[in-house]
Amino acid sequence: MKIVLTILLSYIIGCFSSAYIIGKSFKCIDIRKHGSGNSGATNALRVMGLKLGALTFILDVLKGIVAVYLGKIIMGDNGAYIAGFFVVIGHNWPVFISFKGGKGVATSLGVLLILYWPIVIVSGIIGLALVLFTKYVSLGSITFLGTAPLTYLLISKSFDKRLFILAICFALLTIERHKSNIKRLKEGTENKLGGSR
Ligand code: G3P
Repeated sequence: MKIVLTILLSYIIGCFSSAYIIGKSFKCIDIRKHGSGNSGATNALRVMGLKLGALTFILDVLKGIVAVYLGKIIMGDNGAYIAGFFVVIGHNWPVFISFKGGKGVATSLGVLLILYWPIVIVSGIIGLALVLFTKYVSLGSITFLGTAPLTYLLISKSFDKRLFILAICFALLTIERHKSNIKRLKEGTENKLGGSR
């Protein structure tokens, strides 16, 4: 029963689509019909500007943090990992807005921050450096979560199978959610930070 509660609550927290709610509340727009169409912080930044983009990012990170703590309270350590997975599923495929959610990067970041923050520092810096260097946020996002399992293996002195599996899930989810970005990156048509190509 506790596991069902953990899955349901974390999924529902994930379904709180910050970009969509902020778009509707502050700009009276459906973020899914603007920019890349993604309900995430990058598109919120692109479409609604720095302040609302930053607010979206912070709220999406917070969702991950809150879900992990809640999972831990409900069913202990295992609950934190289960909640960490399902909050990202909720973010990516929110039932309340026709399953058209975001790509899960900020929410995964929030989850990893609590479960093992050094991954965020190491893989995050690599991803951020790529964003600054290439201006492709998607490339930085894919690199950040794509390298997370390997980063974990390289920097952690102990091995927690649950965290490793979760990091692999995040890597696979991010590749799946960035399929259109990957196609545009290959074609040289991906959006760059700041608008130009
Ligand atoms: O985290 C999402 C980012 O990597 C790409 O967003 O809007 O450019 O598809 P977007």
